[in-house]
Amino acid sequence: MVDKNIDLSGKVALVTGGSRGLGKDIALKMAKRGVEVVICGRKKENLDTTVEEFHTHGLDLMAECANIGKSDQVKALIQAIEEKFGRLDILINNVGMNILTPSVVEADEGLWDKILESNLKGTFLVSSHAVTLMKGSGGGKIVNISSIAARKVSRGMGVYCVAKAGVEMLTRVLAVELALEHINVNAVAPGMVRTRFSQPFWSDESLLKDVVRTIPMGRIAETGDVVGAVMFLASDLSDFITGEVITVDGGSMA
Ligand SMILES: NC(=O)c1ccc[n+]([C@@H]2O[C@H](COP(=O)([O-])OP(=O)(O)OC[C@H]3O[C@@H](n4cnc5c(N)ncnc54)[C@H](OP(=O)(O)O)[C@@H]3O)[C@@H](O)[C@H]2O)c1
Repeated sequence: MVDKNIDLSGKVALVTGGSRGLGKDIALKMAKRGVEVVICGRKKENLDTTVEEFHTHGLDLMAECANIGKSDQVKALIQAIEEKFGRLDILINNVGMNILTPSVVEADEGLWDKILESNLKGTFLVSSHAVTLMKGSGGGKIVNISSIAARKVSRGMGVYCVAKAGVEMLTRVLAVELALEHINVNAVAPGMVRTRFSQPFWSDESLLKDVVRTIPMGRIAETGDVVGAVMFLASDLSDFITGEVITVDGGSMA
């Protein structure tokens, strides 16, 4: 029997939306473990700041401007990875965004498209292009960042809930379709994490209290709380797990 471990050194990983928040922390922890990390984002200045921050830790990474909702940009991103490394072992589909809406029926079409594009279509596009490169490397790991919003309605976040539910079904569909290609596809579904994305909630003391009241562990997550589940799913330790969602929410869905 082969001894499995969480050693990711020498692997090539793409973390979408790695210029801040959860994606940046995943990228940083992976780079510290010897992974060749690639991040992407829409704004060059955010990517540049992150590259500089990595340099202060003595770490290097590849940072590419790409909007994951646009297939030509995704294609160019994967081509750039192929040119530099010739392989891709790990894909973390981390990009996601939300715009609060009074209700789904009041959401305009443009807003619906924007939320679905960033969360769901983008995950589809990056996975589709990345899989060709992964197959050439003999397989790989895809980890999609979902949310507890995929399974629990949150007022004002209805369109996002629909999009993340789509991400979880896409996870299961890809898991089945890619199983014999040795590509595991799983997801991590966090509750609230302290990042810019959720700042309107955690920076308001009374809103934060309302949220924390629903979390048995009595606090919201820091990015580091979520990274462990991502690393596990990206490693050999999870080789026989596919189509699964790990909830990281301090017990709020229990
Ligand atoms: N924070 C939470 O409470 C929470 C809870 C549950 C789940 N999540 C999920 O966790 C993931 C990470 O969220 P976060 O809180 O770290 O968000 P964040 O702080 O807003 O960071 C988002 C990152 O994605 C990039 N990005 C956004 N749209 C993009 C696009 N279309 N193409 C390429 N890059 C894009 C951003 O860079 P640019 O702006 O430069 O493009 C940034 O690097 C998301 O999927 C989110 O839904 C978050």
